[in-house]
Amino acid sequence: MEKSIAIAQARHPNAEFICERFGEELPFPDTSFDVFVTVDTLECIKNKEALLAEIHRVLKPGGEILAMHWDWDTQTYNIPTRDLARKAVRAFSDWKQPWMDEADGQMGRKLWGLFEGSGKFHGSSDAFCLIETEYEAGQYGYDRARDLSGLVEAGEFDEGEYKQFRRELSESHQGGEYFYSVTSFVYHGRRA
Ligand SMILES: C[S@@+](CC[C@H](N)C(=O)[O-])C[C@H]1O[C@@H](n2cnc3c(N)ncnc32)[C@H](O)[C@@H]1O
Repeated sequence: MEKSIAIAQARHPNAEFICERFGEELPFPDTSFDVFVTVDTLECIKNKEALLAEIHRVLKPGGEILAMHWDWDTQTYNIPTRDLARKAVRAFSDWKQPWMDEADGQMGRKLWGLFEGSGKFHGSSDAFCLIETEYEAGQYGYDRARDLSGLVEAGEFDEGEYKQFRRELSESHQGGEYFYSVTSFVYHGRRA
């Protein structure tokens, strides 16, 4: 996004930022990078094999790859109506938002197979679990629950169930029982 790139460039004038939409190629010469980092973007990429081939091409021999991705199906919300929590998590996980070419809410758990299985990289996997006990704007779990209103507007999630979900979350917070978690998986490897 141009706006975000402009902010980043202003904050870090010595770095070079570019705004590119990945199709089939990365606009960089062969073996030009020591490290390649990708965060929460892979699920949107249509041709993941092409991207892996491009990452392999632009990395120097032995160069590092660090790939991170939330696994949306690992979200947990502690509310009394457990099937409603399951339904909300599943709806969010399967949601293909307008700016995505593709969506895969289970991308996190697939990182290992994607990179290691390609034979182009060798590495290891790790996990990071975000845990929150505060339900208010700016908190990750709150913001994701609020995002579900987009699915209501699109007619893909029932409005009554959405309101009940938000109400139960607020009540669980008031009762001191609010608990949210989501897991991010990490693949850290080197170019084979
Ligand atoms: C969930 S955001 C993550 C952004 C950032 N990496 C972060 O961690 O905050 C996903 C990003 O992928 C970008 N994106 C989606 N499809 C893309 C594509 N084909 N090529 C490049 N970026 C893409 C979107 O513009 C969006 O900024």
